[in-house]
Amino acid sequence: MKHIDRLRSLGLFDSRVPRYTSYPTAPVFSPEVGATEQTRALAALDPAQPVSVYLHIPFCERLCWFCACRTQGTKTLSPVESYLGTLEQELALLKGILPKGLRMGRMHWGGGTPTILPPEMIHRLAQAVRDVIPPTEDCEFSVEIDPTMVDRAKIAALAAEGMNRASIGIQDFDPLVQASIGREQPFDITRACVDDLRAAGIRSLNADLVYGLPHQTAARLDDTVSRVLELSPDRVALFGYAHVPWVSKRQKLIPEDALPAEQARHALANLAAARFTDAGLTAIGIDHFARPDDGLARAAASGHLRRNFQGYVDDTCPTLIGLGASSISRLPDGYVQNAPATAAYIQRIEAGQLAGARGHVMTGDDLLRARAIEMLMCDFRLDRNALRAAFGALAATLDAQIALVGERFGDLVAVTDEALTIAPEGRALTRIIASAFDAHVPEGIRYSQAS
Ligand SMILES: C[S@@+](CC[C@H](N)C(=O)[O-])C[C@H]1O[C@@H](n2cnc3c(N)ncnc32)[C@H](O)[C@@H]1O
Ligand code: SF4
Repeated sequence: MKHIDRLRSLGLFDSRVPRYTSYPTAPVFSPEVGATEQTRALAALDPAQPVSVYLHIPFCERLCWFCACRTQGTKTLSPVESYLGTLEQELALLKGILPKGLRMGRMHWGGGTPTILPPEMIHRLAQAVRDVIPPTEDCEFSVEIDPTMVDRAKIAALAAEGMNRASIGIQDFDPLVQASIGREQPFDITRACVDDLRAAGIRSLNADLVYGLPHQTAARLDDTVSRVLELSPDRVALFGYAHVPWVSKRQKLIPEDALPAEQARHALANLAAARFTDAGLTAIGIDHFARPDDGLARAAASGHLRRNFQGYVDDTCPTLIGLGASSISRLPDGYVQNAPATAAYIQRIEAGQLAGARGHVMTGDDLLRARAIEMLMCDFRLDRNALRAAFGALAATLDAQIALVGERFGDLVAVTDEALTIAPEGRALTRIIASAFDAHVPEGIRYSQAS
């Protein structure tokens, strides 16, 4: 059987499995866990352990058709300003709850488009966070930047507030592909944005690309990759286009008949990956690339790569505090997600309570499976000895499943008493293999395809 047919027979094109940015995944969260658990867990944090902070800005001036992020379009700044006021209220509530002396080791602003904020709002927001959770000396501050929605003054404001990493959205540079996803973004504007970010002292710059978009061909993607390489990013995220129009209604504008077919899509991912590794970037996890001296590549090499809602990270803070609509906090006991809809989030905060609306309390079994899945997603290797050291006898719960994976995936995996390792030829199946260890199968949820 040809390799591609073998991958197909193992579900590469048919399986609909999560991307495992958390385990359990957000669709399994329950409304029975909310603000009460959130408040209790935040109050009990150890102030000696720095936390990470994620702040969500759910606004964009344009709404790209392909995008599945939680955001809404606005042509004016008034809803943004009012939302900023709510974030300030949320932070004031947190101030009354968090233990004194807690510090922030990481902060990430995502969206939507955080760079919709004008400079004065950037300063206001950064100040509000700092007042409640002061940063550590070596705090990393990263921001998602839409190159068409930023200027030098905004970059200067972010840099003055300590931004030292940035992630820019590119997706694809081809004009036909851009037109078909409702996102025009000339190369010159992107280049100017990169130059401004570098001049502002950004030392780690990530570029987001997407394969599997309408009208994308090998030649067009090859051209996009060449242009991306001209920008010398330190990291590249190469996401498979998730076509989920039942979740993201704006994707109904995507011309489905122009989407690459299964095998062509798989070939696009391989083509871009080969170009990036040929250019000297190291492949990281299922969809990232990084310069060997970048923190992400160093974390991967030393076994410290982790996966959270932002994707792959070299973040070692165990606690993540999510602020804003839809943000998810990872707390010592489990996960709590703020009300996903902006209006519902605002309503809760204005009523004087935290906005946690759904969540999950982790059992010992969840913690074991979460770490096993994270190991597969980050290292392609489930380290059985490390799980035994961390979880004791409980680790044996996975033995039967490991054996079944060995039988099902044959020589695409190697099973020993030490580890379950995914061979390079089997890595396209990583999400499917990880899903074998998922004990929570949500009802009525459809994920995007696994390839
Ligand atoms: C919050 S958005 C980007 C930030 C900024 N608003 C921009 O447009 O440049 C984060 C990234 O998610 C990825 N993304 C969004 N929708 C996607 C989808 N349907 N499938 C795959 N990746 C997607 C894109 O690469 C995008 O750059
Ligand atoms: S890709 Fe960025 S700018 Fe476009 S809709 Fe999504 S979040 Fe907004």
